[in-house]
Amino acid sequence: MNKRIPEKALNDGLKIPSIGFGTAWIKGAAGVEVLIHAMDAGYRLIDSAFNYENEGAVGQAIRKSSVPRDELVITSKLPGRHHAYKEALETIEESLFRAGLDYYDLYLIHWPNPITDRYVEAWQAMIEAKKRGYIRSIGVSNFLPEHNERLVQETGVAPSVNQIELHPYFDQTEQRAKDDKYGIVPESWSPLGRGHDMLNNEAIKGIAAAHSKTPTQVILRWHIQLGAIPIPRASSLAHQKENLDIFDFELSEAEMHILSGFNQPDGRLWNQDPAVYEEM
Ligand SMILES: NC(=O)c1ccc[n+]([C@@H]2O[C@H](COP(=O)([O-])OP(=O)(O)OC[C@H]3O[C@@H](n4cnc5c(N)ncnc54)[C@H](OP(=O)(O)O)[C@@H]3O)[C@@H](O)[C@H]2O)c1
Repeated sequence: MNKRIPEKALNDGLKIPSIGFGTAWIKGAAGVEVLIHAMDAGYRLIDSAFNYENEGAVGQAIRKSSVPRDELVITSKLPGRHHAYKEALETIEESLFRAGLDYYDLYLIHWPNPITDRYVEAWQAMIEAKKRGYIRSIGVSNFLPEHNERLVQETGVAPSVNQIELHPYFDQTEQRAKDDKYGIVPESWSPLGRGHDMLNNEAIKGIAAAHSKTPTQVILRWHIQLGAIPIPRASSLAHQKENLDIFDFELSEAEMHILSGFNQPDGRLWNQDPAVYEEM
Protein backbone atom coordinates (compact mmCIF):
# COMPACT_ATOMS: atom_id res chain seq x y z
CA MET A 1 0.00 0.00 0.00
CA ASN A 2 1.20 3.53 -0.73
CA LYS A 3 3.22 4.69 2.29
CA ARG A 4 2.21 8.37 2.16
CA ILE A 5 -1.54 7.78 2.39
CA PRO A 6 -2.95 6.68 5.76
CA GLU A 7 -5.52 3.86 5.68
CA LYS A 8 -8.99 3.53 7.17
CA ALA A 9 -10.38 0.23 8.46
CA LEU A 10 -13.90 -0.65 7.30
CA ASN A 11 -16.44 -2.49 9.48
CA ASP A 12 -15.68 -5.78 7.65
CA GLY A 13 -11.93 -5.53 8.26
CA LEU A 14 -10.82 -4.31 4.81
CA LYS A 15 -8.36 -1.42 5.02
CA ILE A 16 -8.60 1.23 2.31
CA PRO A 17 -6.72 4.48 1.58
CA SER A 18 -8.11 7.63 3.20
CA ILE A 19 -8.26 9.42 -0.17
CA GLY A 20 -9.24 8.01 -3.56
CA PHE A 21 -9.51 9.02 -7.21
CA GLY A 22 -12.82 9.93 -8.88
CA THR A 23 -13.32 8.87 -12.49
CA ALA A 24 -16.70 10.14 -13.70
CA TRP A 25 -16.23 11.21 -17.36
CA ILE A 26 -12.70 9.72 -17.42
CA LYS A 27 -12.91 7.01 -20.08
CA GLY A 28 -11.54 5.72 -23.38
CA ALA A 29 -7.86 5.73 -24.37
CA ALA A 30 -7.30 9.23 -22.97
CA GLY A 31 -8.91 8.06 -19.73
CA VAL A 32 -6.51 5.11 -19.50
CA GLU A 33 -3.58 7.57 -19.60
CA VAL A 34 -5.17 9.78 -16.91
CA LEU A 35 -5.68 6.70 -14.71
CA ILE A 36 -2.10 5.48 -15.18
CA HIS A 37 -0.84 8.95 -14.18
CA ALA A 38 -3.07 8.87 -11.12
CA MET A 39 -1.67 5.49 -10.02
CA ASP A 40 1.89 6.74 -10.67
CA ALA A 41 1.09 9.82 -8.57
CA GLY A 42 0.16 7.52 -5.68
CA TYR A 43 -3.59 6.90 -5.83
CA ARG A 44 -4.49 3.37 -4.83
CA LEU A 45 -8.27 3.70 -4.25
CA ILE A 46 -10.02 4.11 -7.62
CA ASP A 47 -13.73 4.87 -7.93
CA SER A 48 -15.70 3.84 -11.03
CA ALA A 49 -19.23 2.74 -11.91
CA PHE A 50 -21.08 0.56 -14.42
CA ASN A 51 -22.89 3.77 -15.47
CA TYR A 52 -19.65 5.75 -16.03
CA GLU A 53 -18.95 3.29 -18.87
CA ASN A 54 -15.30 3.28 -17.87
CA GLU A 55 -14.77 -0.08 -16.17
CA GLY A 56 -12.90 -1.13 -19.34
CA ALA A 57 -10.54 1.86 -19.09
CA VAL A 58 -9.95 1.14 -15.40
CA GLY A 59 -9.09 -2.50 -16.16
CA GLN A 60 -6.76 -1.49 -19.01
CA ALA A 61 -5.00 1.08 -16.78
CA ILE A 62 -4.49 -1.58 -14.09
CA ARG A 63 -2.91 -3.94 -16.64
CA LYS A 64 -0.67 -1.22 -18.08
CA SER A 65 0.34 0.30 -14.73
CA SER A 66 3.40 -0.86 -12.80
CA VAL A 67 1.34 -0.92 -9.57
CA PRO A 68 0.55 -4.52 -8.52
CA ARG A 69 -3.17 -5.38 -8.57
CA ASP A 70 -3.16 -6.34 -4.89
CA GLU A 71 -2.05 -2.83 -3.90
CA LEU A 72 -5.11 -1.32 -5.55
CA VAL A 73 -8.61 -0.89 -4.14
CA ILE A 74 -10.89 -0.87 -7.16
CA THR A 75 -14.50 0.24 -6.81
CA SER A 76 -17.51 -0.01 -9.09
CA LYS A 77 -21.25 0.48 -8.63
CA LEU A 78 -24.49 -1.29 -9.44
CA PRO A 79 -26.89 0.83 -11.56
CA GLY A 80 -30.49 1.42 -10.54
CA ARG A 81 -32.00 -0.44 -13.50
CA HIS A 82 -30.47 -3.73 -12.30
CA HIS A 83 -31.63 -4.01 -8.67
CA ALA A 84 -33.60 -7.24 -9.24
CA TYR A 85 -31.69 -10.09 -7.55
CA LYS A 86 -30.72 -12.15 -10.61
CA GLU A 87 -30.00 -9.07 -12.75
CA ALA A 88 -27.86 -7.58 -10.00
CA LEU A 89 -25.67 -10.68 -9.83
CA GLU A 90 -25.35 -10.78 -13.63
CA THR A 91 -24.46 -7.07 -13.68
CA ILE A 92 -21.71 -7.58 -11.12
CA GLU A 93 -20.37 -10.40 -13.30
CA GLU A 94 -20.55 -8.10 -16.37
CA SER A 95 -18.72 -5.39 -14.38
CA LEU A 96 -15.92 -7.88 -13.76
CA PHE A 97 -15.83 -8.96 -17.42
CA ARG A 98 -15.76 -5.32 -18.62
CA ALA A 99 -12.77 -4.55 -16.40
CA GLY A 100 -11.13 -7.93 -16.96
CA LEU A 101 -10.83 -8.33 -13.22
CA ASP A 102 -11.34 -11.43 -11.04
CA TYR A 103 -12.71 -9.36 -8.18
CA TYR A 104 -13.64 -5.82 -7.12
CA ASP A 105 -12.34 -4.63 -3.77
CA LEU A 106 -15.39 -2.48 -3.18
CA TYR A 107 -18.76 -2.53 -4.91
CA LEU A 108 -21.59 -0.12 -4.10
CA ILE A 109 -25.30 0.14 -4.91
CA HIS A 110 -25.17 3.44 -6.83
CA TRP A 111 -28.55 4.92 -5.77
CA PRO A 112 -31.29 3.50 -3.50
CA ASN A 113 -34.17 4.50 -5.83
CA PRO A 114 -36.69 4.17 -2.95
CA ILE A 115 -39.73 4.81 -5.14
CA THR A 116 -38.90 1.77 -7.28
CA ASP A 117 -37.99 0.11 -3.95
CA ARG A 118 -35.87 -2.90 -4.90
CA TYR A 119 -32.70 -1.90 -3.06
CA VAL A 120 -33.04 -4.60 -0.38
CA GLU A 121 -33.14 -7.22 -3.13
CA ALA A 122 -30.04 -5.62 -4.68
CA TRP A 123 -28.35 -5.77 -1.27
CA GLN A 124 -29.13 -9.51 -0.97
CA ALA A 125 -27.42 -9.99 -4.35
CA MET A 126 -24.41 -7.98 -3.13
CA ILE A 127 -24.18 -10.28 -0.06
CA GLU A 128 -24.24 -13.31 -2.36
CA ALA A 129 -21.63 -11.75 -4.69
CA LYS A 130 -19.32 -11.25 -1.73
CA LYS A 131 -19.83 -14.92 -0.71
CA ARG A 132 -18.89 -15.96 -4.27
CA GLY A 133 -15.64 -13.96 -4.07
CA TYR A 134 -16.64 -11.38 -6.69
CA ILE A 135 -16.30 -8.51 -4.19
CA ARG A 136 -14.19 -8.06 -1.05
CA SER A 137 -16.32 -5.35 0.58
CA ILE A 138 -19.90 -4.28 -0.10
CA GLY A 139 -21.27 -0.78 0.39
CA VAL A 140 -23.82 1.72 -0.81
CA SER A 141 -23.99 5.20 -2.29
CA ASN A 142 -26.55 7.93 -1.71
CA PHE A 143 -28.38 5.84 0.92
CA LEU A 144 -30.30 7.91 3.49
CA PRO A 145 -30.25 6.74 7.14
CA GLU A 146 -33.64 5.02 6.76
CA HIS A 147 -32.37 3.00 3.78
CA ASN A 148 -29.33 1.74 5.72
CA GLU A 149 -31.55 1.02 8.73
CA ARG A 150 -33.74 -1.17 6.54
CA LEU A 151 -30.79 -3.06 5.03
CA VAL A 152 -29.57 -3.95 8.52
CA GLN A 153 -33.06 -4.89 9.76
CA GLU A 154 -33.86 -7.10 6.77
CA THR A 155 -30.46 -8.73 6.12
CA GLY A 156 -28.39 -8.24 9.28
CA VAL A 157 -25.53 -6.89 7.14
CA ALA A 158 -24.48 -3.23 7.32
CA PRO A 159 -22.74 -1.57 4.37
CA SER A 160 -19.01 -0.87 4.82
CA VAL A 161 -19.11 2.48 3.00
CA ASN A 162 -21.73 5.06 2.05
CA GLN A 163 -20.56 7.27 -0.83
CA ILE A 164 -22.52 10.52 -0.51
CA GLU A 165 -22.47 14.09 -1.77
CA LEU A 166 -20.25 15.83 0.78
CA HIS A 167 -18.41 19.17 0.58
CA PRO A 168 -18.31 22.34 2.70
CA TYR A 169 -21.69 23.47 1.28
CA PHE A 170 -23.31 20.19 2.35
CA ASP A 171 -21.49 18.60 5.27
CA GLN A 172 -23.96 15.78 6.02
CA THR A 173 -23.52 15.97 9.81
CA GLU A 174 -26.70 14.04 10.65
CA GLN A 175 -26.22 11.39 7.94
CA ARG A 176 -22.62 10.79 9.05
CA ALA A 177 -23.62 10.44 12.71
CA LYS A 178 -26.38 7.93 11.86
CA ASP A 179 -24.12 5.90 9.54
CA ASP A 180 -21.42 5.88 12.20
CA LYS A 181 -23.74 3.83 14.48
CA TYR A 182 -23.18 0.94 12.05
CA GLY A 183 -19.51 1.71 11.44
CA ILE A 184 -20.34 2.85 7.88
CA VAL A 185 -17.47 4.99 6.56
CA PRO A 186 -18.46 8.06 4.51
CA GLU A 187 -16.86 8.55 1.09
CA SER A 188 -17.31 12.10 -0.26
CA TRP A 189 -18.45 12.49 -3.85
CA SER A 190 -17.90 15.85 -5.55
CA PRO A 191 -15.59 16.67 -2.62
CA LEU A 192 -14.54 19.88 -4.43
CA GLY A 193 -18.05 20.69 -5.58
CA ARG A 194 -16.87 19.84 -9.12
CA GLY A 195 -14.72 22.99 -9.25
CA HIS A 196 -17.53 25.09 -7.74
CA ASP A 197 -16.82 28.66 -6.59
CA MET A 198 -15.78 27.31 -3.18
CA LEU A 199 -12.24 27.04 -4.61
CA ASN A 200 -12.26 30.87 -4.87
CA ASN A 201 -13.80 31.50 -1.46
CA GLU A 202 -11.86 34.26 0.33
CA ALA A 203 -12.03 32.65 3.80
CA ILE A 204 -10.77 29.32 2.42
CA LYS A 205 -8.03 31.17 0.53
CA GLY A 206 -6.98 32.81 3.81
CA ILE A 207 -6.74 29.45 5.61
CA ALA A 208 -4.77 28.06 2.67
CA ALA A 209 -2.28 30.96 2.77
CA ALA A 210 -1.76 30.45 6.52
CA HIS A 211 -0.70 26.83 5.86
CA SER A 212 1.16 27.51 2.57
CA LYS A 213 -1.38 25.23 0.89
CA THR A 214 -4.00 25.72 -1.83
CA PRO A 215 -7.78 26.09 -1.21
CA THR A 216 -8.27 22.64 -2.75
CA GLN A 217 -5.82 21.08 -0.31
CA VAL A 218 -7.58 22.80 2.60
CA ILE A 219 -10.96 21.45 1.49
CA LEU A 220 -9.58 17.91 1.06
CA ARG A 221 -7.90 18.13 4.47
CA TRP A 222 -11.28 19.15 5.96
CA HIS A 223 -12.76 15.90 4.57
CA ILE A 224 -9.92 13.86 6.09
CA GLN A 225 -10.36 15.45 9.52
CA LEU A 226 -14.15 14.85 9.36
CA GLY A 227 -13.31 11.15 8.93
CA ALA A 228 -14.61 11.03 5.35
CA ILE A 229 -12.75 9.62 2.35
CA PRO A 230 -12.70 12.21 -0.46
CA ILE A 231 -12.47 10.92 -4.04
CA PRO A 232 -11.50 14.01 -6.06
CA ARG A 233 -11.38 13.69 -9.83
CA ALA A 234 -8.54 15.41 -11.69
CA SER A 235 -7.48 14.94 -15.27
CA SER A 236 -4.60 17.37 -14.76
CA LEU A 237 -1.49 15.63 -13.43
CA ALA A 238 -0.59 18.75 -11.42
CA HIS A 239 -4.03 18.63 -9.74
CA GLN A 240 -3.65 14.89 -9.07
CA LYS A 241 -0.38 15.47 -7.21
CA GLU A 242 -1.61 18.58 -5.40
CA ASN A 243 -4.64 16.70 -4.11
CA LEU A 244 -2.52 13.98 -2.49
CA ASP A 245 -0.24 16.44 -0.72
CA ILE A 246 -2.50 16.91 2.29
CA PHE A 247 -0.97 14.72 4.99
CA ASP A 248 1.66 17.14 6.33
CA PHE A 249 -0.58 19.76 7.93
CA GLU A 250 -3.59 19.99 10.22
CA LEU A 251 -6.54 22.37 10.35
CA SER A 252 -7.34 23.82 13.77
CA GLU A 253 -10.77 23.36 15.33
CA ALA A 254 -11.56 26.99 14.45
CA GLU A 255 -10.56 26.43 10.80
CA MET A 256 -12.66 23.25 10.62
CA HIS A 257 -15.53 25.29 12.01
CA ILE A 258 -15.13 27.98 9.32
CA LEU A 259 -15.32 25.38 6.55
CA SER A 260 -18.30 23.60 8.10
CA GLY A 261 -19.95 27.03 8.49
CA PHE A 262 -20.66 27.12 4.73
CA ASN A 263 -23.11 24.23 5.17
CA GLN A 264 -26.65 24.89 4.00
CA PRO A 265 -29.67 22.64 4.66
CA ASP A 266 -30.32 22.54 0.90
CA GLY A 267 -26.63 22.58 -0.03
CA ARG A 268 -26.86 19.77 -2.59
CA LEU A 269 -25.34 21.28 -5.73
CA TRP A 270 -27.37 19.29 -8.30
CA ASN A 271 -30.69 18.85 -6.52
CA GLN A 272 -30.21 15.08 -6.18
CA ASP A 273 -32.05 14.23 -2.97
CA PRO A 274 -32.00 10.40 -2.76
CA ALA A 275 -35.48 10.43 -1.17
CA VAL A 276 -36.98 11.44 -4.52
CA TYR A 277 -34.21 11.39 -7.14
CA GLU A 278 -33.90 8.07 -8.96
CA GLU A 279 -31.06 7.13 -11.28
CA MET A 280 -31.26 4.09 -13.51
N1 LIG B 1 -21.97 8.06 -6.16
C1 LIG B 1 -22.42 9.07 -6.87
O1 LIG B 1 -23.62 9.23 -7.08
C2 LIG B 1 -21.43 10.06 -7.43
C3 LIG B 1 -21.89 11.27 -7.96
C4 LIG B 1 -20.93 12.18 -8.44
C5 LIG B 1 -19.57 11.85 -8.39
N2 LIG B 1 -19.16 10.65 -7.89
C6 LIG B 1 -17.73 10.26 -7.82
O2 LIG B 1 -17.03 11.30 -7.15
C7 LIG B 1 -15.94 11.72 -7.99
C8 LIG B 1 -15.56 13.16 -7.70
O3 LIG B 1 -16.64 14.04 -7.91
P1 LIG B 1 -16.78 14.97 -9.22
O4 LIG B 1 -16.09 14.34 -10.35
O5 LIG B 1 -18.24 15.25 -9.36
O6 LIG B 1 -16.12 16.36 -8.84
P2 LIG B 1 -14.91 16.90 -7.93
O7 LIG B 1 -13.90 15.83 -7.67
O8 LIG B 1 -15.52 17.62 -6.77
O9 LIG B 1 -14.30 18.01 -8.91
C9 LIG B 1 -13.63 17.68 -10.10
C10 LIG B 1 -13.20 18.99 -10.77
O10 LIG B 1 -12.28 19.66 -9.89
C11 LIG B 1 -11.13 20.02 -10.63
N3 LIG B 1 -9.96 19.92 -9.75
C12 LIG B 1 -9.45 18.79 -9.19
N4 LIG B 1 -8.37 19.08 -8.46
C13 LIG B 1 -8.17 20.43 -8.57
C14 LIG B 1 -7.20 21.30 -8.05
N5 LIG B 1 -6.21 20.85 -7.26
N6 LIG B 1 -7.30 22.62 -8.36
C15 LIG B 1 -8.31 23.08 -9.14
N7 LIG B 1 -9.27 22.29 -9.67
C16 LIG B 1 -9.20 20.95 -9.38
C17 LIG B 1 -11.02 19.01 -11.77
O11 LIG B 1 -10.29 19.61 -12.83
P3 LIG B 1 -9.29 18.79 -13.83
O12 LIG B 1 -10.03 17.57 -14.29
O13 LIG B 1 -9.03 19.80 -14.90
O14 LIG B 1 -8.03 18.43 -13.09
C18 LIG B 1 -12.49 18.78 -12.10
O15 LIG B 1 -12.96 19.79 -12.98
C19 LIG B 1 -16.47 11.44 -9.39
O16 LIG B 1 -15.46 11.53 -10.36
C20 LIG B 1 -17.07 10.08 -9.19
O17 LIG B 1 -16.06 9.09 -9.16
C21 LIG B 1 -20.08 9.75 -7.40
